[in-house]
Amino acid sequence: MFSFPVHHTFGPHATLSYTLRSLGLLFQPWKWRNGNEREHLRKALQQSFHGDVFLFSSGREALAALFRAIQLRSDEEVILQAYTCVVVPNAVHAYGGVPIYADVDGDTLNLDCADVERKITTRTRAIIAQHTFGIPANLPRLRKLCDERGILLIEDCAHVLPDDSASPIARTGDFSILSFGRDKAISGVAGGAVISRKSDVSNALKNAEDHAGELPRSVIARYLLYPRIYFKTRVLYVIGLGRACLALCKKLHLLIPIVTPEEKKGNMILRMRKLPNACAALALHSFERLPMINAHRRNLTRFYIEECTKHGWNVIPGVTEHLALQKFPLFFPNADRLRELLKRENIYLEDGWTGCVICPRGTATETLGYSPGIGPKAEGMCEKILSLPTHPTMSMKQAKRLVTALNDLTAKC
Ligand SMILES: Cc1ncc(COP(=O)(O)O)c(C=O)c1O
Repeated sequence: MFSFPVHHTFGPHATLSYTLRSLGLLFQPWKWRNGNEREHLRKALQQSFHGDVFLFSSGREALAALFRAIQLRSDEEVILQAYTCVVVPNAVHAYGGVPIYADVDGDTLNLDCADVERKITTRTRAIIAQHTFGIPANLPRLRKLCDERGILLIEDCAHVLPDDSASPIARTGDFSILSFGRDKAISGVAGGAVISRKSDVSNALKNAEDHAGELPRSVIARYLLYPRIYFKTRVLYVIGLGRACLALCKKLHLLIPIVTPEEKKGNMILRMRKLPNACAALALHSFERLPMINAHRRNLTRFYIEECTKHGWNVIPGVTEHLALQKFPLFFPNADRLRELLKRENIYLEDGWTGCVICPRGTATETLGYSPGIGPKAEGMCEKILSLPTHPTMSMKQAKRLVTALNDLTAKC
């Protein structure tokens, strides 16, 4: 029987309305770089998250701009967690800072606060609290720790944006970093922001944004094509032509990789670019639908929890049914094998967050200051993780198909 592919990465935000919006923008090139949408997005984020908002062409640039704005010195340390994306330590390195890795708490996949405390030194300048996959980090404890020691708290909200105005997420840090990447909490295909709650740093960030360059039009055009390509590719996967279509798009350089080979080696090109107005328009489109997107994520989270209970699959304590998860983490000793077998069912669960503590696989971990043994819990769990999608284009019907396939396979393997 024909079925749409289940996936993490085939245009997770590319719903019909999102794809139509991106196509509309594609045919209005005068709106690509400049227009009102960027200011509307800034204002909307400012109102929701109470801080000064500065927009850049990616979350990693926003983070690097922040390190420059706080004048991070070359001997200063930034504590971050061992299970993270390579672009995060790259941004610390970019201005000469030293990334110090703390292990994860196995209950939440977030910073283990006891290990953070052990790793604080007189050179610690900041702690990055990543809300991994939308599971809240221990903000009260990290805030207290930072206040007591005069350390800056940076929230990495790439994976989550709350729709509830009482949520402490994206409101507790001295700074919050947002990403509008293609698979993040909200999406502009690309883009990022810093929310600053320190006025002296805000001045430096304003200067950084004002002096940022523009992305080439050819890059903006490819970002706008991205939802259209995947909207079509998902249909082609139904008749077995999806892979060929993607290969062709890659050959024609229509798809821009999320992480470049240079970034995987631990290098970040230090260049700040403005958030293109077209990406801001798409991020705004997403942000206006945040309550709906998060309600959808919560529904799928609830469904997966119920199914896990039924099938005896262990759910980590940090995952609860009121969370709008960016993806739902599960653990199986043979996760790689299961992912491979699921492909035969048109189910693609590779998301770049498996088999690595600095993701994706194949990053130069030693160059990035990570040596085996620093984060034993992170090293153990990343081998066993198998995450289930919760994104806007993942339907409940697909979730049911996925759970059935997973159950059949775990019974056999
Ligand atoms: C946890 C985390 N933080 C920050 C980023 C940076 O976001 P961007 O892709 O917009 O640079 C990413 C993703 O790439 C991420 O996964």
